[in-house]
Amino acid sequence: MACTCVVGLQWGDEAKGKIVDLLTESHAFVVRYNGGANAGHTVVSGSQTFKLSLLPTGVLRPNVRSVIGNGVVVYPPRFLEEVSNLRQAGVSVGDNLLVSDRAHVIFPYHMEEERLNEGGEGKTIGTTGRGIGPCYQDKAGRHFAVRLGEMLHPQHFRERLGPIVERKNRLLRALSPEARVFDADTICADYLACMEQIRPHVADTSRLLREASDEGQGILFEAAQGSLLDVDHGTYPYVTSSNSSTAGVWSGTGVPARKIERIIGVIKAYSTRVGRGPFPTELNDGPEGIGERIRRTGREYGTVTGRPRRCGWFDAVAARYSAALNDADELSVMLLDVLSDLPELRIAVAYERDGQRFEHFPTDASALEQCHPIYETLPGWKGDISTARRLADLPAAARRYVDRLGELLGLPVTIISVGPDRAQTIFAK
Ligand code: GDP
Ligand code: IMO
Ligand code: MG
Repeated sequence: MACTCVVGLQWGDEAKGKIVDLLTESHAFVVRYNGGANAGHTVVSGSQTFKLSLLPTGVLRPNVRSVIGNGVVVYPPRFLEEVSNLRQAGVSVGDNLLVSDRAHVIFPYHMEEERLNEGGEGKTIGTTGRGIGPCYQDKAGRHFAVRLGEMLHPQHFRERLGPIVERKNRLLRALSPEARVFDADTICADYLACMEQIRPHVADTSRLLREASDEGQGILFEAAQGSLLDVDHGTYPYVTSSNSSTAGVWSGTGVPARKIERIIGVIKAYSTRVGRGPFPTELNDGPEGIGERIRRTGREYGTVTGRPRRCGWFDAVAARYSAALNDADELSVMLLDVLSDLPELRIAVAYERDGQRFEHFPTDASALEQCHPIYETLPGWKGDISTARRLADLPAAARRYVDRLGELLGLPVTIISVGPDRAQTIFAK
């Protein structure tokens, strides 16, 4: 079995969850390597819809082991809430779910810190409010950070938490006199109560995964967010706080990157973005415009926050950059059905800035703000394509559009998705 990585090539919500779900059965492990409960991965199977935020999508299949890697930041109450929701929906969750003892823990003061930062005079990112940025900040800063494994030892945990909460309260009050402050005893009691239930799932997952990979067992790495939100390689500072590209696999799981044999770049047939930041192909064309039509047809509202996603044409400059960054081998083109019945379709093939044409993706968000897309126009197609199951079932214009995406990114398109359900999938090669 091969080690595979499913990674988003845009700004998230490319429908990675659907692809991970389709590939889960052919792997022994499914591993989340970055982010936390800021992600929202949806899987539709017949009449059931599952939304995973912190847990790996693999958890829907009890015969596959699902791992939350060390690169993920964990909010314990959310972990338990998701497990409980799944059990209520009839999914059995037991020792098939593991979480790294090295994963860092999100506390309520992280959410408060984020709320104050986002509401203050500084730069607003438009975050999901899940405490992700402040937790990773503490991880890198080391003094205030707590790893999940530390909570296995109650006395040690209580001793660590006391001075941390005290300093956090001072910091929060300095940010705003109205800041919420916290009590270490209360947090300690709440988190140790959560830990009673989480404890059986905690393991040294890095060692486990390396051993599994040495034995030739298949591991599927599931990215959260999209590569353009990667903290190092995305549209900084309008990014998340982890490596959402394949760059995060090694650091976020302990499995050396060389083990990955297959990298699937997931793209939507158009573009979306939630939160702030540059988006050259965004369609701001009003309530009757194409942007709104895509949002309505594609149900483009954030899974985590419910915010309307910003919608626009496919940006081949941005996606080509991501495909190269991730060393993607192949593409999954998702939500193609959403573009049906549009008279014509546009793809950004280059940018124009200060009267100059260029085809590379700029490093700086402010430079990207000034880029105007240069479009290529392709004919649209009419009619519902959601029942297509083979390439030949697609109208010629839809096939031409998908082929063009592959050509522009220099990669084969191996999967085409024409609806949310597992069955609404075309395996092209
Ligand atoms: P992820 O974060 O990358 O896993 O993507 P999300 O789950 O946040 O967003 C993708 C949304 O599109 C979900 O609601 C899916 O159920 C839905 N979806 C997935 N594939 C298709 C498709 O081919 N067509 C349509 N119309 N919806 C899809
Ligand atoms: P999935 O895995 C889309 C965005 C937020 C915000 C920025 C930083 O479902 O693709 P954060 O809370 O991470 O500090 O917010 O990143 N963002 C996402 N956008 N899909 C996601 O995840 C996202 N996770 C974070 O909207 O702009
Ligand atoms: Mg999502």
